[in-house]
Amino acid sequence: MANILVTGGAGYIGSQICKALAAAGHTPVAYDNLSRGYEMLVRWGPFERGDITDGARLAEVFLRHNPEAVIHLAGFAFVNESVTKPELYRLNNVEGTHTLLAAMRAAGVRRIVASSSCSVYGSASTLLNENAALAPLSPYAESKVRMEQALAAESGLKWVALRYFNAAGADPARDTGEITAAGVRVIPNLFDTALGLRPAFQINGDDYPTPDGTCVRDYTHVCDIAEAHLNALAYLEDGPLRIFNLGNGKGHSIRALIQAVEAVTGRRIKVAVAQRRPGDPASLVADAGLAARTLPWRPRYPDLADMIAHAWAWHRKIPDTLRKAP
Ligand SMILES: NC(=O)c1ccc[n+]([C@@H]2O[C@H](COP(=O)([O-])OP(=O)(O)OC[C@H]3O[C@@H](n4cnc5c(N)ncnc54)[C@H](O)[C@@H]3O)[C@@H](O)[C@H]2O)c1
Repeated sequence: MANILVTGGAGYIGSQICKALAAAGHTPVAYDNLSRGYEMLVRWGPFERGDITDGARLAEVFLRHNPEAVIHLAGFAFVNESVTKPELYRLNNVEGTHTLLAAMRAAGVRRIVASSSCSVYGSASTLLNENAALAPLSPYAESKVRMEQALAAESGLKWVALRYFNAAGADPARDTGEITAAGVRVIPNLFDTALGLRPAFQINGDDYPTPDGTCVRDYTHVCDIAEAHLNALAYLEDGPLRIFNLGNGKGHSIRALIQAVEAVTGRRIKVAVAQRRPGDPASLVADAGLAARTLPWRPRYPDLADMIAHAWAWHRKIPDTLRKAP
């Protein structure tokens, strides 16, 4: 079994991937600068604190652990923040990926599975497959397009980019989950409102061209996303395809999500309607047939109610004081 370097391994999705790698007999080496992650989520292998923009530190870590492959998640991931700080996203997500690829080249590591995002597509009223036109609406989305281009431009690299639709849920055993700053991500935000920690949940726009006017997203369980990375690691040995959507093919509006959270928590959620935010596409729902057939990949938790129940159980375990501000 192999050492796998997981950049962003102290984050929400990265820590779940580390757990899945360890369960499959690998040693996940979490490489993270802890800007948004938590050392307490590094539980399944060694931790190396470092930045993906720091080539010398990466070289040291490659030498020490001699990983067979890299799973690359490190980056900033908030659409709204990227609109106000585009340069931060270019430097961290795009330049960081270039530095990582250079370090891999120098160390002779030629396999990588990287996190991309449904945001590269812009918006669509139909299911999106991998051939849909790219139309990034935010600097965050743009950084993912440029990351994919960097992977494609690297000669001799075996790579797969997974375009996740919205990650949701938490580890059912409550070993890891999302600990984002208050107000930044939609499901923890709804929980906080349900718990009375926020006066109201803000709906950012109810005049989108969707059935109830609120944004529609395809939620994907974090454990299913983690599983897909393991399948992708095996696939990239010989597989010719590079880009796969990960989603359930079912769209949920923000209003439907609120109802689902109310049902799981048994609490009423107050809402306030605000303006649309720049950078938010109206609707993003995956056609993930290619991943299903090719990796292959079959989500174990496709139901939104399961995702919310797992996330709620985790959310109640984590003290608010832990959360970092973006
Ligand atoms: N959460 C989602 O719904 C979603 C959807 C699509 C794609 N993604 C992508 O998945 C990846 C992981 O997202 P997440 O939700 O787990 O976010 P997260 O913020 O929990 O994890 C990202 C991790 O990367 C680390 N990091 C950031 N910049 C770094 C740097 N320069 N060097 C080293 N470490 C750095 C952070 O400290 C954090 O631990 C990101 O690339 C994100 O864009 C997430």
